[in-house]
Amino acid sequence: MAYLKIPKGWEIPEREATPEHIFLNRRKFLAAMGITAIGATGILPRFSTAADGLYPAQRNPRYKLDRPITTEWHTAHYNNFYEFTEEKDVWKLIDRFRTEPWTIKITGKVQKEQTLDVSQLIRQIPLEERLYRHRCVEAWSMAVPWTGFPLKALIDRVEPKSDAKYVRMETFFRPSQAPNQKEQNRSNPLFSGRTWYPWPYYEALTMAEAMNELSFLVTGIYGHELPKQNGAPIRLVVPWKYGFKSIKSIVKIEFTSRKPGTFWNDFAPVGNDWFANVNPAVPHPEWSQEKETIIDTREVRPTRLYNGYNSFVAHLYAKS
Ligand code: MTE
Repeated sequence: MAYLKIPKGWEIPEREATPEHIFLNRRKFLAAMGITAIGATGILPRFSTAADGLYPAQRNPRYKLDRPITTEWHTAHYNNFYEFTEEKDVWKLIDRFRTEPWTIKITGKVQKEQTLDVSQLIRQIPLEERLYRHRCVEAWSMAVPWTGFPLKALIDRVEPKSDAKYVRMETFFRPSQAPNQKEQNRSNPLFSGRTWYPWPYYEALTMAEAMNELSFLVTGIYGHELPKQNGAPIRLVVPWKYGFKSIKSIVKIEFTSRKPGTFWNDFAPVGNDWFANVNPAVPHPEWSQEKETIIDTREVRPTRLYNGYNSFVAHLYAKS
């Protein structure tokens, strides 16, 4: 993604890392008190009554990992969410962000344009848990238990027209809640004369990609609602693509016939391909994509084509 920083951020300072036994004991203590929000560690599920009884959802055993699940603490403390900061400590800056109530506008080339309330939507479409690998273009990775539902389930409800070829998604624009969305007089010469990010964040998939069984709309993680820093209340997860395609905190989904632009590809196209399929053979201009560092164990593993999801998605890109 951006060239702002060579990614050394997985080296989380010791002072910020809660030793796991303390963290786990704290969880047990809070669980015993019936408290699931773990504010003191920055793991802040939305903690709303709208989700009562929905989490944890049943795990779908079809989606298997080849590595341990990443520690919840790391997944909540090492985030990319540029609306708040270009650093990884998003959790420190997220308090003012309001994720309830939340609606998503579905528009464009569909029979049934509508505005959906997320707290109602999660009661209408069955939730399931899936274990997915998550590979960032910055060469770090995690393995995450996401809860959500297939994007296809939503698409089927709104009945796309025959000329809908792409699905474009957009994040909120709220400068009063997200400090990095405030207009700032800052220019970065690396971005060919542009002065600031083109908010709101936007992403897109082809219709075939969006309908693929892996494309997942996520509302929960580790058996509870998403914390804000992970993209509450609803985000996309497309695990065969670099993480920047997995747009957070979605407010709008639009079906189009023409190929839409995407945030990173428009802003800094070199190294941020439109499709952004994980591919170890195509280096980023500043680093190799052959390996990835797992953020909690710091184990270095070889990166696999399509992040190892070849059997699910390779047909989408096969040349006839
Ligand atoms: N979505 C929005 N709206 N803003 C962002 O900055 N960052 C992307 C993606 N979705 C981003 C976003 C990137 S680069 C990555 S790697 C993942 O979110 C990180 O998701 P995580 O913090 O849950 O691991």
